[in-house]
Amino acid sequence: FNENELKLIELNKQASEIFTHLLLNTDLSTNALKYLLEERHLSRETIADFQLGFLPSQWSLHDFFEEKKIPVETQLESGIISQYDDGSFHDVFSNRIMFPLKDSYGNIVGFSGRTLDKNNSVKYINSKETAVFKKSKLLYHFDVAKQAAKVSQKLLLLEGYLDVIAAHKAGIDYGIASMGTSLTKDQLQLISRNTPKLTIAYDGDSAGQSATWRAIEEIKNFPHLQLEIVTIPNQKDPDEYLQQNGPGALKKIFEEDSTSINDFAFEYLKKGRNLENVGNLSDYTNDLLNFLNEHPDPIANDLILKKLSDQ
Ligand code: GTP
Ligand code: MN
Ligand code: MN
Ligand code: MN
Ligand code: MN
Repeated sequence: FNENELKLIELNKQASEIFTHLLLNTDLSTNALKYLLEERHLSRETIADFQLGFLPSQWSLHDFFEEKKIPVETQLESGIISQYDDGSFHDVFSNRIMFPLKDSYGNIVGFSGRTLDKNNSVKYINSKETAVFKKSKLLYHFDVAKQAAKVSQKLLLLEGYLDVIAAHKAGIDYGIASMGTSLTKDQLQLISRNTPKLTIAYDGDSAGQSATWRAIEEIKNFPHLQLEIVTIPNQKDPDEYLQQNGPGALKKIFEEDSTSINDFAFEYLKKGRNLENVGNLSDYTNDLLNFLNEHPDPIANDLILKKLSDQ
C-alpha cells in the first residue's frame, strides 16, 4: 500500500470502530440493535465478531472526523462522507447498519450499509470505488474463509452478508459473498487459488437460481475448480432457512444436499417449459445435451440421460 491507501484504511478502521461502539453502547442505536437482536436473531457476540455497526441519523461522522483532524480530502476520498452542491457535508451511510468490507488480509477497505427503513427501495449501498475499494476484486468474509478452507478444502459462495453470518451461526466459517454483483474473473481467481472446491448456495428464489446459472457459465474458465450446487428449499435464502429450521438443518443442507452442476442444469433448463409440448421438450433436450457436452461428467451424465429418457 502507498501512503494514501494506508490513510484510507486507517480512516475506515476508525469509522468501523465508532460504528460498532455506536450500535452496541449508545441509545441512538436502540432501534437498530433491536432489529438485529430480535428480528435478525443475531447475538451481541456475532455482532462483535463481524464488526457490525450503525450510523445513527442524529450523529455526524463528518463532525467526528473534523474533531480527529482528518483532512476533508481524505474524508471525501473514503466515500463515507460526501458533499452537496452547496458545499455542505453529509454522511453517506446515515441510518444504516454497517458491514465492514475487508480485503484478503483483513484490512477494512469499504462498507456496505443496510437501511432500517422498510420503505427505502435501496436496501444496501456500498462505498464508492476508491484507491483501496475495488468491488469486483473483493469477496465478503474472504479473509476468514480462506483460513477455514485450509481445513474444509472448500469455500461456500452465498448471495448476502447475512447469509454468510447464517453459515457462521451454523458452524461454517468458509462462507463468502460477492457484493451483490455477478461473480467476476478476479473473484474466481481468488477462490480458485485458495480451494479446490466451491459450493454455490445462492438464494432459492428465481433471481438466485439465474445468478447460479450465470456463475456456472463464468466458472467454465476455471476448469480445475470443482463445483457443486445447493438449492435452498422453498425459494428461501440461507438466513431465512436458518430462522425457520435452525442452524443444524442449515449445516446439513450445506454439507449433504449438494448436487452436480449437470443435475442443476437438468432442473434449471426445465423452467418456463411445458415438457408435454413436443417443441418445448425438443428445445429442452437440445439445451441440456449442449450443456452436458460442455461439462463432461461421465457418471452424472449417464444418470441424467437416463432421467431424460423417462421425461
Ligand atoms: P436481507 O434482506 O438483509 O436479508 O438481505 P439479503 O442479503 O437477503 O438481500 P438480497 O437477497 O435481496 O440481496 C443479496 C445481496 O445483494 C445483498 O447482501 C447485497 O450485497 C446485494 N444487494 C441487495 N440489495 C441491494 C441494493 O439495493 N443495492 C446494492 N448495491 N446491492 C444490493
Ligand atoms: Mn423472533
Ligand atoms: Mn436475493
Ligand atoms: Mn437474500
Ligand atoms: Mn436475507
